[in-house]
Amino acid sequence: MVLGTILLTGASLTASVLVVQVAVLPLVFKYSKSVQRKMVFSNCINYPRNLDYENPSSCNVVGGRNFNIQFESAVDSCPIKLGVWHIVPCSMFREVFVIRDYLNVDDRLHQELRRTQNTVVLYCHGNSNHRASPHRLQMYKVFQELNFHVITFDYRGYGDSTRVRPTERGVVEDALEVYSWLMESLTQTNRPPVIIWGHSLGTAVAANMTANLSDLCATQGKSQLPRPDALVLEAPFNNLMDEIESHPFSKLVSWLPYYRDTFVKPFTVSSEYAFTTDQYLSTVPHIPILMLHSKGDKIVPYPLAVKLHEKVAESRAIAGAPLMFHSFEKGLGLGHNNLCEAPDLKDVVGKFLEEVKERKGKHVD
Ligand SMILES: *[C@@H]1O[C@H](CO)[C@@H](O)[C@H](O)[C@H]1NC(C)=O
Ligand SMILES: *[C@@H]1O[C@H](CO)[C@@H](O)[C@H](O)[C@H]1NC(C)=O
Repeated sequence: MVLGTILLTGASLTASVLVVQVAVLPLVFKYSKSVQRKMVFSNCINYPRNLDYENPSSCNVVGGRNFNIQFESAVDSCPIKLGVWHIVPCSMFREVFVIRDYLNVDDRLHQELRRTQNTVVLYCHGNSNHRASPHRLQMYKVFQELNFHVITFDYRGYGDSTRVRPTERGVVEDALEVYSWLMESLTQTNRPPVIIWGHSLGTAVAANMTANLSDLCATQGKSQLPRPDALVLEAPFNNLMDEIESHPFSKLVSWLPYYRDTFVKPFTVSSEYAFTTDQYLSTVPHIPILMLHSKGDKIVPYPLAVKLHEKVAESRAIAGAPLMFHSFEKGLGLGHNNLCEAPDLKDVVGKFLEEVKERKGKHVD
């Protein structure tokens, strides 16, 4: 009797799980644009919470200042305010924060940026959380040790930036505004190397912006901006559709016969995002690219990076800027978010940068 009830309960539980998997999930997915969007941007995941972004040291950033970039969005037709941090290289830290008058630190850092010859990284973070997320902070430390300046920001809908629903065009517009601010803040004669560094979804944002730089400037009413000296793609995917298909979430439902139609197609037909990095990057053969990927990455599986590499390599088969692909072996314990822990990361980035600087010196374009 008791056993019978348990068995029955077990069976009905299994049955309801099955109903959810076979019917409810696909329906919600197919018809709810907002569920899809939430999965892609995941900006409602916001950890750690209640941070004082205006005071980067309270968020465990050593040698940073906070400021805002404000503009009128052509995409969403509303004013946008972005939260931004400028984090200084280790070599500057002591002078600025220890010896100098602490009160004028913001002005002083802006002047330092204006005359620096150190490499400057514009960091485009991936989906979910914000610029103070622990794995991002760890990467900034690596940049600081490499003596780079770091500019890192939150897209609309993330962190303390304006709460507007993010779309691809929206977050690309944000990246462009920060890039434009950066280019104006640097010296115009003999500019230091500028790298756009994207992580995960941020690689697609960086790629879209770089590929469409001149069009974007024109539609935003900006004067033409110089191209970045290089792109670094940390844990990139080739395009969003392949990424959705390989995401761990898909494993739950990918055995369904109508899987592609209900789960994958809605993403491709969305007008709000495409994130086809492979296409974007095929149009910029003159920009040096470094790809970094772990073979143990479970969020963006390694084969997607291989596909991206193949596609981009094809586009620069005849002539083109360097395209370096550095993979990290499985045994290193590296996944999607912790390439900053790779022991040889600084060497790899340093070597790539040597090549970028050499090209820059020769003014080949
Ligand atoms: C570049 O951006 C503009 C403005 O957002 C857009 O109209 C255009 O379609 C984009 N170009 C390409 C090649 O995607
Ligand atoms: C950037 O993304 C937007 C929105 O998905 C798209 O319309 C545009 O074509 C993309 N840019 C490039 C260079 O393809």
